[in-house]
Amino acid sequence: MASPTPPKRVQPIVYFIGLTAALAGLLFGLDVGVISGAEGFIQKDFKISDDTIQLIVSALLWGAAFGALFSGVLSSHLGRRKTILISAVNFIIGAILCAFASNEHMLLVARFILGIAVGVASFTAPLYLSEVSPGSVRGSMISMYQLMITIGIVIAFLSNTWLATYATFDGVTGGHWRIMLGIISIPAAIMFIGVYFLPESPRWLFLKGFQEKAIGVFKQMKLDDAEIAAEVREIEDSIKVKQNGFSLLKNNPNFRRAIGLGIGLQIIQQLTGINVIMYYAPRIFGMAGFEDTNEQMWGTVIVGITNVLATFIAIAFVDKIGRKPIMYAGFVTMGVALIAVGTLFLIGGETRMIPNAKGVAEASIVLKSLDFAYPAIFSLLVFIVGFAMSAGPIIWVICSEIYPLAGRDLGVTFSTGTNWIANAIVGMTFLSLINGVGPGNTFLLYGALNVLFIIFFLLFVPETKGVSLEKIERNLMSGLPLKKIGR
Ligand code: BGC
Repeated sequence: MASPTPPKRVQPIVYFIGLTAALAGLLFGLDVGVISGAEGFIQKDFKISDDTIQLIVSALLWGAAFGALFSGVLSSHLGRRKTILISAVNFIIGAILCAFASNEHMLLVARFILGIAVGVASFTAPLYLSEVSPGSVRGSMISMYQLMITIGIVIAFLSNTWLATYATFDGVTGGHWRIMLGIISIPAAIMFIGVYFLPESPRWLFLKGFQEKAIGVFKQMKLDDAEIAAEVREIEDSIKVKQNGFSLLKNNPNFRRAIGLGIGLQIIQQLTGINVIMYYAPRIFGMAGFEDTNEQMWGTVIVGITNVLATFIAIAFVDKIGRKPIMYAGFVTMGVALIAVGTLFLIGGETRMIPNAKGVAEASIVLKSLDFAYPAIFSLLVFIVGFAMSAGPIIWVICSEIYPLAGRDLGVTFSTGTNWIANAIVGMTFLSLINGVGPGNTFLLYGALNVLFIIFFLLFVPETKGVSLEKIERNLMSGLPLKKIGR
């Protein structure tokens, strides 16, 4: 009997490629995380209202939606590598413009420009990663990208904490929001240099007819002849299927169902309320009664670390116990946790007159004692665990699995675009909700939504654990109900 071939050792260069491309994930995370520490200082400096702050927070997200929607075209014409390089330049310029914005209007525009880079990177980097990594490590490469996002968020929180309270420049200690925003140009420059030395995606090279170059890339990755032949066969098979997403969208109701599922899942991911915490954590700590900036910033760091650590739960179990059980557990956890936060604000909140950015005292609801504050913060952390172990990574996983090959590019464009649009709407409405109906009702609303979303999973979401993409595609296109396309 022939002995099974031992799995090939993946060459270090492949990990170098993966890590460099995943830097795009880190930048994405840095940009998501950085605003939470900066927005309070920006508001004081420019003396602007909560409405304007919400616009500044969400300008980046609108930019990202815009970037994500046209990055399919860009990366198909210019190649993945060049597109990521352009986004790195855009990151650098955007970050510097933010740092030097002389008023809120300039900052708004700068954040939109920076957002385009985030959107382009959020589409192109995972695409590049999935195309360049050999089959045996593809899953872990994509998970690494997700993990890098959460690590980027924590690094931004840590840098914010240092710049908000400890760092002294020009005799001023703390409050350095311009440096918070500008410092991101450094990792962006590092990404530019790293990506400059990366090879182009072999799949894209094949698509454009540069077979020799593609094989050169595989050689550079030190694949042996048999591995190269297998990769080439796989690429040739997959590019036989021409991308015709638009005509599928027009003519094929089964494809439209998959698009609907992806859009629904991404709206749900954002309506969990995760980014309310990512963008406004220090403010939420303030509402819980921690008035000291230092406490607020360290609290935010704990949120970020919890987010990273809980992501490992998903990575460990997503292929073992499946996507749906983890989703149910995560959404129940999130729902209960946010309902607890809301209830604590309703029973333990008191109205205090707190000076706003213009120095005018305004009525704000704050938790009256630590007996309420600690359980509220604990519940918020439980919510983060619920998100990071479920909706965070798994919704991206499912969205990469449900589209038929011929419409995958368009499908991913739709789901990524929806993610950013829903993200922007959440970022743009949180302070209005807090000021309008109060923190208690706002958190109750998000908590109730999380519980409601479970019905969506029960009715529409398939279990895709261990099922080949071909089988999912066959089931979808034969008209099986969405819930059953993973069987
Ligand atoms: C979401 C982001 C969110 C991040 C938090 C991602 O999966 O798409 O909107 O900020 O998780 O870790």
